[in-house]
Amino acid sequence: MPAAAAASVPADQAAPIMPRPASPDRYAVIGQPVAHSASPAIHRLFAQQFNEPMEYGRIEASPAQFADTVAAFFAGGGKGLNVTAPHKIAAHDLADSVSMHARVAGSVNTLALRTDGKLAGDNTDGIGLIRDLTQNLAIEIRDRRLLIVGAGGAARGVLAALLGQSPRLVVIANRSVDKARALVHSFEALGRLAAVGLDGVAGRHFDLVINATSASLAGAALALPGSAVDGAVAYDMAYSASPGPFLRWADAHGAIAAHQVWGMLVEQAAESFYLWRGVRPYTPPIMGLASELAPTLD
Ligand code: ATR
Repeated sequence: MPAAAAASVPADQAAPIMPRPASPDRYAVIGQPVAHSASPAIHRLFAQQFNEPMEYGRIEASPAQFADTVAAFFAGGGKGLNVTAPHKIAAHDLADSVSMHARVAGSVNTLALRTDGKLAGDNTDGIGLIRDLTQNLAIEIRDRRLLIVGAGGAARGVLAALLGQSPRLVVIANRSVDKARALVHSFEALGRLAAVGLDGVAGRHFDLVINATSASLAGAALALPGSAVDGAVAYDMAYSASPGPFLRWADAHGAIAAHQVWGMLVEQAAESFYLWRGVRPYTPPIMGLASELAPTLD
């Protein structure tokens, strides 16, 4: 009887039936600087939700090192990268294929190894912002008047997603108005857009004002008329541990609410995780922790 035979094998001679420990799949965020990134902490929390066998690290690389570092990471068995400043455009150029979101943004924040060994590039920033605004914060965008301050990579990365929500009008205000005009030109097929200089928003009313400039990172204040934010919801896409100069300014000039970027960070990370692992993390419990991770973002 097999059962009796098995039972007669002395315990110290029985072969242990243990699954071979699989080495975890490797992911990382690559940027310069990257020490501030909350992505490793967020992705570890996502991985715990599903008991996914993965590890997630940080890779510091200069623009000159970027392509070789990415190639070495994937040649060494890496499965996916999040890409942050200043490499998002280089990642777009390096990817073998890019999604529609990445193509319209002209930048990639997520690289994934395809089964054929090629690199797929995507951009989850736009969807991250929309999920935070509409689902987490219950902010209406449809038929509303939006002001985006800034016309650099951050603005370009989220414009298509915002226009996809059918706002009544999106005004792009930028210190150098030519860059705002160039963005309007790129996206005018997707909705109603206007370009102005920073002082061009005086006397106009908006429902939502999004800071997409890097002014606060350099410690500079924005030369925006306060009336632009009076009665509006303010949203700051720039990282800072506590409400930064933009939100303090908005608060002082009559904004009805002022939101930091944490929800967008968590949601764009969740979308990257979904692209890599095929499962969508549940974000509300992470959202509360995101602000606690804030000091690591400074
Ligand atoms: P990012 O990828 O973060 O968008 P970027 O492409 O260098 O970085 O763009 C930075 C944006 O912040 C630009 O819109 C820039 O305005 P200019 O195009 O006029 O340079 C804006 N910005 C940076 N510092 C600013 C400041 N002190 N006042 C106003 N706008 C500022």
